[in-house]
Amino acid sequence: MHGWFDVADKLNTKVVAAAHEKGFDLEIFTADVKLADPKFGDFQANGALPYAKRTQSNPREVANSLMGTLASDNEIQSNFELSIAGPGFINFKMKPSFTLEWLKTFSSEKSLVQSAMHLNEGQTIVVDYGSPNTAKQMHVGHIRSVVIGEAICRLLEFCGAKVIRDNHLGDWGTAYGKLFYAYKRHLDKENLDTDPLGELERLYRIGNEVAENDENALQECRDELVNLQNGESENVELWQLVNEYSIKGLKEVYGLLDVEYDHYLGESFYRDKVDQVYEELLKCGIAEESQGALVVFHPEHKRFKKQPFIIRKSDGASNYASTDLATMLYRLEHFKATGIIIVTDDRQKDHFEQLELTTKKWFEKTNREMPTFNNVMFGKITDDQGKAMKSRSGEPIRLIDLLQEAVERAYLIVKEKNPDLPEEELRSIAKTVGISSVKYADLTPNRTSDYVFSWEKLLSLDGNTAPYLLYAATRIQSIFRKVNESSLDSMESEASSFETAEEQALARKIIEFVGVIHQTIDTLRPHTLCSYLYELSGAFSSFYNADHVIVDQPDVRARRLLLCRQTLIILKMSLNLLGIRTLERM
Ligand code: ARG
Repeated sequence: MHGWFDVADKLNTKVVAAAHEKGFDLEIFTADVKLADPKFGDFQANGALPYAKRTQSNPREVANSLMGTLASDNEIQSNFELSIAGPGFINFKMKPSFTLEWLKTFSSEKSLVQSAMHLNEGQTIVVDYGSPNTAKQMHVGHIRSVVIGEAICRLLEFCGAKVIRDNHLGDWGTAYGKLFYAYKRHLDKENLDTDPLGELERLYRIGNEVAENDENALQECRDELVNLQNGESENVELWQLVNEYSIKGLKEVYGLLDVEYDHYLGESFYRDKVDQVYEELLKCGIAEESQGALVVFHPEHKRFKKQPFIIRKSDGASNYASTDLATMLYRLEHFKATGIIIVTDDRQKDHFEQLELTTKKWFEKTNREMPTFNNVMFGKITDDQGKAMKSRSGEPIRLIDLLQEAVERAYLIVKEKNPDLPEEELRSIAKTVGISSVKYADLTPNRTSDYVFSWEKLLSLDGNTAPYLLYAATRIQSIFRKVNESSLDSMESEASSFETAEEQALARKIIEFVGVIHQTIDTLRPHTLCSYLYELSGAFSSFYNADHVIVDQPDVRARRLLLCRQTLIILKMSLNLLGIRTLERM
């Protein structure tokens, strides 16, 4: 089982050999074989043009002389048709028999897993995603880190990595003073049980407002915080309670999103681990004191030679940078991480760049292995005016409300399509469709760009949406409900070579899958896989509209069923990699 790049590599070798035979100067010549635009062929060697330019010869003649040798190669002759296009590109079109043999290697999930396993085998990667600040609701903006992070975890696992899902909660900060002040005076216990995050957020707002208008209250809030920092038991217990409630509220949303963490090691976990960071960084000469604070400069960097990375505040307190440095060390030593990925919005870019630079120097000086580090960044979700999404009352929209609305909206659509399904099944389908649609809408745009949230678009049955793909998968499943077992068993042995343009085009799309996974994992950009799935479903649709699957001729039926099966395997598996559940019926 191989990806198209393996075939490209092989062709590359053959083109170079042909050039050698023709006496080309191999110092200058490169074959440059790539996957081609299907309009022209399947692979294309682009090397004749630059070579002709360098040697001042005619590119078509250069291509022609290579063609002669290539055409007499047995393997090429039986698998490809050759032609020269444009000013001198050599095109390789796969013969249908070759496409079929190749396609057969995609016959099971297992073979697909094997094709990607080696990419990250042996690696242990900590993925830090979600990671919201506690004692607050998750709002719409919080969804991106969770959804993109989870897809990345699944993709990495698919590629053989051991993944550790860590929720690095912001659970230690100045907000607790105000929260405790209000908690001790205005708690609505019932609300705390039913809507923990809602209640904590309400209390924080009260604390904040009182502190703004009343000097005495402000002082009391400060005292509450100092008591917590000094380890006074009442406040420490309260802090623990608040965190338990926070995590309970968060887990409700994670449950809806099908996300389960291995660890919740928030900022507070690292409080007692920062002293080692200060000591080592000072000793290594990486950090220096500046106006009472401890800072790191990077003289080799354009901005960070002047812009300090403050790792201890002038009042001696730790901050986001100190705990993050301690986190890097902990992940290396405790989890034996070979890779660390942190999924956050793009406003924290500088912080993570400084974190990476500092850690690299620190680990080098202390003879530790630096794990690969990636800050997987993403842009904002906006309304159609390009502004942050707000509810009608002007508040940020709660994530849980958004997800519930998605399910309600999906329910109406599913019910309209299948008025006769039993209510329970309708509800369950609506849940999958609703949640998947929101998730998929978050994954389809390139993560670094902002995107506009639109219910109409994300729930549409047309376009690159979850409903479209889920529906495509159910449609293929319904084909298999119509055929008997025996024709499935003999599919591979009976299949004849592809004949129609639609068969060949779909087969070619299926074959691209492995390359797409490589590209997605290389860039940690799930939208690459989303675009591919949309193209695959499009190719399937064209095929399905043009060619009957259940026909009388056994060999034709077999090869068409084969195409259906491979499409289905890839669709289901990829959707699952993106964190999306598939359906039997829709
Ligand atoms: N709590 C941060 C936020 O809400 C994200 C934390 C990301 N992880 C980290 N190790 N800094 O933006």
